[in-house]
Amino acid sequence: MMHPIRSAMRWSLLLLTIMPMFCRASDPHAIDEKVQALLTQMSLEEKVGQLTQYSATWKADGTAPITEEMRDAIEHGLVGAMLNVLGTRDTRQYQELALHARLKIPLLFGLDVIHGYKTTFPIPLAEAASWDLDGIERSARIAATEAAASGIQWTFAPMVDIARDPRWGRVMEGAGEDTLLASRIAYARVRGFQGAGLGETDALMACAKHFAAYGAAVGGRDYNSVDMSERMLWETYLPPFKAAVDAGVATLMNSFNDLNGIPATGNRYLLREVLKGQWNFDGFVVSDWHSIAEMVNHGFAADERDAARLAMTAGNDMDMASGVYRKYLGDLVATGRVPLRLVDEAVGRILRKKFELGLFDDPYRFDDPRREQATLNDPEHGRAARKIAANSIVLLKNSPHVLPLSRSLKTIAFIGPMVKANKDNLGGWSVTVPGVDYSQFVVSQWDALRNKLGDGTRLVYARGCDFVGEDRSGFAEAVDAARQAELVIMSVGEQWTMSGEARSRSNIHLPGVQEDLIKAVQATGKPVVVLINAGRPLIFNWTADNVAAILYTWFLGSEAGNAIADVLVGDVNPSAKLPITFPRSEGQIPLYYNHFNTGRPDVPTAPDRFVSAYIDLESSPRYAFGFGLSYTTFDYSGLSLSGKIMRAGEPITLNLDVRNTGPIAGDEVVQLYSHQLAASVVRPVMELRDFRKVHLEPGQIAHIAFTVDREMLAFYNARLQRVAEPGDIELMVGSSSADIHLRTHISLEE
Ligand code: BGC
Repeated sequence: MMHPIRSAMRWSLLLLTIMPMFCRASDPHAIDEKVQALLTQMSLEEKVGQLTQYSATWKADGTAPITEEMRDAIEHGLVGAMLNVLGTRDTRQYQELALHARLKIPLLFGLDVIHGYKTTFPIPLAEAASWDLDGIERSARIAATEAAASGIQWTFAPMVDIARDPRWGRVMEGAGEDTLLASRIAYARVRGFQGAGLGETDALMACAKHFAAYGAAVGGRDYNSVDMSERMLWETYLPPFKAAVDAGVATLMNSFNDLNGIPATGNRYLLREVLKGQWNFDGFVVSDWHSIAEMVNHGFAADERDAARLAMTAGNDMDMASGVYRKYLGDLVATGRVPLRLVDEAVGRILRKKFELGLFDDPYRFDDPRREQATLNDPEHGRAARKIAANSIVLLKNSPHVLPLSRSLKTIAFIGPMVKANKDNLGGWSVTVPGVDYSQFVVSQWDALRNKLGDGTRLVYARGCDFVGEDRSGFAEAVDAARQAELVIMSVGEQWTMSGEARSRSNIHLPGVQEDLIKAVQATGKPVVVLINAGRPLIFNWTADNVAAILYTWFLGSEAGNAIADVLVGDVNPSAKLPITFPRSEGQIPLYYNHFNTGRPDVPTAPDRFVSAYIDLESSPRYAFGFGLSYTTFDYSGLSLSGKIMRAGEPITLNLDVRNTGPIAGDEVVQLYSHQLAASVVRPVMELRDFRKVHLEPGQIAHIAFTVDREMLAFYNARLQRVAEPGDIELMVGSSSADIHLRTHISLEE
């Protein structure tokens, strides 16, 4: 270790030589100059260091002790970023080591801040159900504020993978199956995480992942191959990434899968041609965990050295966790196998972000323990989480007079394995912040409902059964509890560990004996309200057909209990709509609303049985994309168009009225779909084109205007050109993809 005074002298000498670098500047040219100046001083080894990210390993007490090997690497400037180090105390310790290095280049601290930091928001799929872009941006903003106050500068979010297969465990991390909705959400999340811009102490660098097409893994099995047409890639899977880039996303992460035979990590077309070329992305690309080395398993790289070469050549800038850049890249450059300019370019991209973040200005600017304390305990964050959680709950069924709960109910039975759980409400990919006792911090559904109902209503509890397993020994107690009550609420679902990475399921029915428990309780004749907690669409046909009411409550985060209680009693009127189709059976998967018609569609008017269908299954989904009920009702009327013919440069305005026809205030998500009847390539039966979420008091009317233009109707033709082709286009407005209230046609002219 260098003597502190000599160290200080060296620090000030360095300051003199590269002084202009040490002020934070938002001017990109000034930053470029600083980056170039720094690059000229760096050895090849130090450059490779900037391309290397390591992970710390947490201990049970929440600390991330520094190993000797790591300490040595950081002190020699051989590490560019850390993963899984959090909290101002720990990040400062690591940063101090980085500043011992010759060039004192600060470390970046990255973490999976997926749906909140200390305050946990609903899982992203649930939040997507809110269709509330402001709310989603705000939740990312709060997550960023908390994480940045805790020493983090970089989140590995948002995940913007389109997912049409609910068997895939990672559907929980994204915005569902629709490209337009997911793109808008991607934009909102990036804006939320990055706030007023890098350089603010409450902004995180966002990371759009996983580039690309990870959600289309064959069979919904995580990490599996993806084989798709380029047209499908461009039309369905790439737009959310483009939206993130348009929002200014600082980084992208590539995906584990191979895409048409080429692993995404080594996919030059995706990284250099599309992302850095056509889209002019100026941030940097990080590999997924170990994905560079895994190109050997794919059979794409001969060995790890080859994998390092392939990833760097393809345009992957930083190596997460595999260590192969550190091992081989220096030698690959020295032997002429990898051009130095590629390494320089990658290092430059990373350094630029470090400058933009202001880390050269003050490497400890994210390490203020007082700010950390104040931010992590801001009560406003909990209130925001409760609001977005309530807005993410989807009302799937409601028999008259069941929900909202009548205030005159004297006894309610509250049954099921989720009722008294607390941390389970957080769902997968939640952060464990050191020193936070989540069992105290997360309000259980039981406590929240009891607080909400007060002393006037007696709540009777029975667990009934576990999430998994065959044990029915608790059924009798549950039936007994139901018999004592006027109404039963059952909270069932998946264990939170059943969705997320490497959590694909071949069977997505309500697990264990939970549906049998529902049957036993339903047999008492009492009205049964079912809450389904899950990280994906589940299959629960019997329940859907038989119980009185169903709320899909996903995993809603720290405020799950309160949000559920708010909706149960009607303090919040549910307004969420499914961002993903719910199948009737696994055999229907993949099932999504924007499919092609085929030559033999399964429609009621079909002349015979030679249609595209299963002989043992209905073709329709259990719940359609965009579906969700409210405690009030809405009427759609007054459709009018500013014109029937769309000529070049002349958009058409579609007007309509939506009226709240029920007795209470509510929010409606008004959805606009289109269908081009004939084109040079077949078009989906319907595609979401726009939506509005409107709040309406009883009797109130919203006048809604959608602008329909050529860009909205454009698609990729067989030669991958984006075109708006002349033809007849049906426009549909509804409250879900299966509940269209108004239809009209326009004609698009050359
Ligand atoms: C996941 C990424 C995540 C990374 C770091 C990987 O296994 O695929 O989404 O960001 O780990 O935790």
